[in-house]
Order: sequence, then C-alpha cells, then structure tokens
Amino acid sequence: MDILRGERLSEFSDEAANYTSSIDSDKFLVSPTIKINKAHILMLVKKGIIDQREGFSCIKALEEIPKEMEMDPKLEDVHMNVEALVVKEVGENIGGQLNLAKSRNDQVATAIRMTLREFILDISSAIIRLREAILQKCKEHLDTVMPGYTHLQHAQPVTLAHHLLAHHDSLMRDEERLTGVYERVNLSPMGACALATTGFEIDRVMVSELLGFDGLVENSIDAVSTRDFAVEAISNLAILMTDLSRFAEELIFWSSHEFSIVEMPDEYASTSSIMPQKKNPVVVELVRAKTSNVYGNLLASLSILKALPYSYNLDLQELTHHIWDACQTALSTLDIFAHMLKKMKFNTKRLLELAQSEMSTATELADTIVRELGIPFRTAHRIVGLLVRRALADDKSLDRVVKEDLDGIVKATTRKGIHIPNEAKQKALDTIENVKIRSVRGGPSPKEVARMLKQRSNALKNYNWVSKKREALKISHDRLAEEISKLKEVVDV
Ligand code: ARG
Repeated sequence: MDILRGERLSEFSDEAANYTSSIDSDKFLVSPTIKINKAHILMLVKKGIIDQREGFSCIKALEEIPKEMEMDPKLEDVHMNVEALVVKEVGENIGGQLNLAKSRNDQVATAIRMTLREFILDISSAIIRLREAILQKCKEHLDTVMPGYTHLQHAQPVTLAHHLLAHHDSLMRDEERLTGVYERVNLSPMGACALATTGFEIDRVMVSELLGFDGLVENSIDAVSTRDFAVEAISNLAILMTDLSRFAEELIFWSSHEFSIVEMPDEYASTSSIMPQKKNPVVVELVRAKTSNVYGNLLASLSILKALPYSYNLDLQELTHHIWDACQTALSTLDIFAHMLKKMKFNTKRLLELAQSEMSTATELADTIVRELGIPFRTAHRIVGLLVRRALADDKSLDRVVKEDLDGIVKATTRKGIHIPNEAKQKALDTIENVKIRSVRGGPSPKEVARMLKQRSNALKNYNWVSKKREALKISHDRLAEEISKLKEVVDV
C-alpha cells in the first residue's frame, strides 16, 4: 500500500506525480531531512512519547540511508521517500512512528533553512576569497594613476587601487548582509507540525538545539507559512550579483581596444569561430547575464508568496529551487571572479596616458585659483570653464591655454591684475600631484589608500565569522551523535 495516499485516495497518475513532485530540488535536502528525523525521534524517546528500542531502530534505519539516495517521484518528495525507506527497513509497527508529532510542512521549512545556512557560509567564504584577491591587486596598484569617471566621462584622476578598493568595500557590505540574514535563517520551525503543533508533549527547543539552530520560529502558523528568510537571502544575493555585474561591466569595456586598460587572462576568454583575431571576455559577460537570472529567482519567489494565504500551500514547494539556483549562481560567480582577477593584467602605462589625456585636472586648477586669489569657487569654476572652452575651440591643451590665457581671463573676470605663480599652475595641472594631494580620509592619495588597504587587510586577517558558525554547527552535530550513541548503549543492554 502507498504510505502517503493511505486509504483515502486511489492511485496517483504518473503525470500528476511527476508534475507535483519536488524531488529535483529536494536533492539538496536529503542529509538535513535525515538529520531532522534523527533529532525528532531522539526527542520523542527522551520525552517518553515513543519506546526507546523502537526509536533506536528508526535512527539506525535512518543512518543507513545513503546521501545520494534514489528518490521515487510517486512518493512526492524527500520526506516521504525517507519515511518509506525506514518503514521498509523496520516495518510499519516501528517506522510508522516517524511522522508522529511532525509534518512535512515543518520538516521542509527546517531542512531548507539547514541547507541555506550552509550555502550562506560557503558564499561568505567565497566573498572573503574574492576580497583578498582584490586587496592583492590594490597593493600592486597603489601608484597606478587612472582617470576617475562620472557619467563615464573623465572626471578627476584617481588610482587603480582606489577604484578597485571601492568594489572591495561593496563586497564587504554584501558579506555583512549575509551575516544578518543568517540570524533569521537559523531558526527552527520543527514542532509546528502541519500548522497547529501537536497534543503530544514535544520539546521544540530540544530539537532546535540538536539541529544547531539559534532559536525557534515560534508561532507555528508562521513557522510553516513563511519563506521570508529565503526571499531575504535571495535579495541579498541579487544585491551581491549586482555589485559583481557592475564590476564585470567595467572589465568588459576596459578590455576593449578603445580602452585597452586590462588584458583578460586567456584561460577566462574565448575566441570566435569565424574571426580568428577575437578575444572575447565571455566569463564577465556571463556574470552580467547570470545576475539577471538571480533577479528572476527573486521575482519568482516574491510572486509565489504575494497572494498566498496562510498557512502552508504547495506553491511554497515551487519556491525552493529558486533558492538553490540563486545560491549556486552566486557561489560559482564569486569563485570564478576571484580566479580570473588574480590573473588579470592591468596596463599601467595606458591608464596614466588616459588620465593625462583629458582635462581631469580642471577641478584642481579651479581650487588653486581659489587658494591663490581668494575668490569664490563659483568664479574660479567660470574662469576654468572659459579656459576649457578656449582650449577646445583652438585645439590646444589645457596646459597651453593656462600658460597663455589664464592671467588675462582672471584680469577680465576679477578686474584685478594679480598673477598666479607658475609653480602653483603647474602643480594644479600635474595629474600625479592631483592624486597625491587628495589625502582626505577615503581619498585616492597612495598614502590614504594604503591606510585603507591595511585596515581592510587586518579585518580580513581577523575574520572568523564563518569558522565560528561552523564550530557552533559542529558542536550540535557532535551532540546529536553523542545522544544517539548514549541511546544505543541503553538499548544494547
Ligand atoms: N514537498 C513539499 C515542499 O517542498 C513538502 C510537502 C508538503 N506537502 C503537503 N501536502 N503538505 O514544500
């Protein structure tokens, strides 16, 4: 007899079984589901709800299930497949207690949280590795002057280290966000059962602790209904992917002939099947596109939830694969990004040439006029604007028109015959000097960027959030194993 349909229904059609089965996304839930069953049975034994020997037989049968277990779609999901295996092993008299005082609804929510917390730890570690790779590049390019852009137009000179550090810092926040969501993921729904708990005197806290959770999703209706923790995690991954995609986009055009700022490593580029000269930045292109897939995961998840009445509905099952898709995309993207970045070569000569090729020192020139003449910035801005316009009209460099025309324009504008010393003018127009003097906190001067770099590197050296969480999970894992071996000793006598 079919253990799921019982006496209530006749046979399920193959078509409906395949359509409604969740075994594909349940592949990620096999070990947590087995573990949840063990912790639950242990609790039932400790509370005297089921017999010790029978409980132990169930646990033994659970331990024999391979992690790569074959799942039958006719049994709908991992939960029924696990129960069916236990019943097959120890018979219904004993194995039939497996679902006493629990339901697939609390169990699936719990298992998803257990797999998701592992993904969060893996993704956080991958962010740390990418941050390390970026910091290494920053160290190599503290003095590499490049044009800083706004509106993708030359704005003011910065350094490559300063620019790359900006990407590092956004990843720093992406990682912080994951530590925040972890707190809300790592709560146990177990004991909520279908939605209304149970009349048996179960101990929800005991199960939660045996499974390494930091607390309960207390209200039993909330516990089985919510997937906000998953949506929050996917949102965080969507933000992370957005940050990676912006970085990827820059690398795409930086590697074009027009920019020639970066050389993609051959291992991470491909060529054309027809144009033999081509080198295409395919990895970073797909970073950009896969970002959209994660937005898709987020939007699908939100849409699944938005009109769903409380408590459990099978619609929730359709959300689960979006969690795994988003996690896997983020993880593989972070890994490949770090590997690729380590091998990327930046063209320092070209960067300096670009920084010097436009008029990105114009702001410093205006600032110098303010300092030297004591006139308002807006007036100095106007004077430099006139110089720029003249340089463009006469096809001259900014340096040249400064030399030839600045004093005249100052006189015409301010009606004063004061001169700016040549040394000050030259300093203002010097691209490298522009960078050096911007030593305000957070600015591009090599000294200030070196300070920021040191602070970030030390933070990474002392980083231990993932290992602390893993330790806590290991302690509960060992405790569950120890409780099981204690039970074994008791029933063995
Ligand atoms: N497979 C379902 C899921 O992934 C869990 C089972 C709940 N089914 C039910 N009929 N209450 O969400």
